[in-house]
Amino acid sequence: MKIIRTTAEMQAFSNAQREAQKHIAFVPTMGYFHDGHLELMRAGKRCADILVISIFVNPTQFSPNEDLQAYPRDFDRDCTLAQEVGVDVVFAPENDAMYPNGFQTFVAVEKLTQNLCGRYRPQHFRGVTTVCAKLFNIIKPHTVIFGKKDYQQLAAISRMLTDLNMDIELVGMPIVREANGLAMSSRNTYLNATERKSALALSHSLREARSFFLRGENNAQECIMLVRSIIDGYSHTAIDYIQICETKNFTDIATITQGSLLALAVKVGKTRLIDNYVFGEELNLP
Ligand code: PAF
Repeated sequence: MKIIRTTAEMQAFSNAQREAQKHIAFVPTMGYFHDGHLELMRAGKRCADILVISIFVNPTQFSPNEDLQAYPRDFDRDCTLAQEVGVDVVFAPENDAMYPNGFQTFVAVEKLTQNLCGRYRPQHFRGVTTVCAKLFNIIKPHTVIFGKKDYQQLAAISRMLTDLNMDIELVGMPIVREANGLAMSSRNTYLNATERKSALALSHSLREARSFFLRGENNAQECIMLVRSIIDGYSHTAIDYIQICETKNFTDIATITQGSLLALAVKVGKTRLIDNYVFGEELNLP
């Protein structure tokens, strides 16, 4: 497995692979891998000749009051895990390589990022789409793979690919959960033992929302009230939002139908967790 630090070397590597007619899959990450990341990599391995991943904790997607400095990092462990999955290249640039002096160009998907997490993290998606556009230009993948836990991120990337005519296939992979139902996230590492129990509020509430819909009920406000009451029943939880909306534009809806999205962001202690469920789909929960 190669570790590449410079954009020039990464671009030269990818050019050579493309000239040799190799299909490149790319999984962007901020590191500190869990099985959710590894599933994205396994999917990349299945669909391509060359699998590139990036490890870069992207400063432009964090607000000043967020956890950029504290974000968990363990490069050596990440490389061991990536190698086990069969990753061909880890692209791990320094900050200056991605944002040199004078950097001033951003990519913003405007409307899709207003609602849900965009309301609470105003600069976040602009940072995500900017770094992803840059990584796509550096790595030149044919296929990119993202997880559905960050549902709004996946939608913003999809919009960006379409709007900027980027000739890249986008694959969205299902949420990977721990055995108790907690959606995997690098930020789960911030949770202490009590908070880990409280963090089950999210998946518990999604399970009840699913049952609500399966019973034939479809009033979105009632479902939100149900979800709210479940989450409030757990200690150390503070809800940022519970929204039931359309997946195509994230506008709120009054009546739940197959394919409507229930999205949640909840602080457990100081840790902000997100999760979601698309009504009518499988919910892989204990
Ligand atoms: O989902 C993430 O880990 C990040 O937002 C991403 C896509 C790697 C961009 O920094």
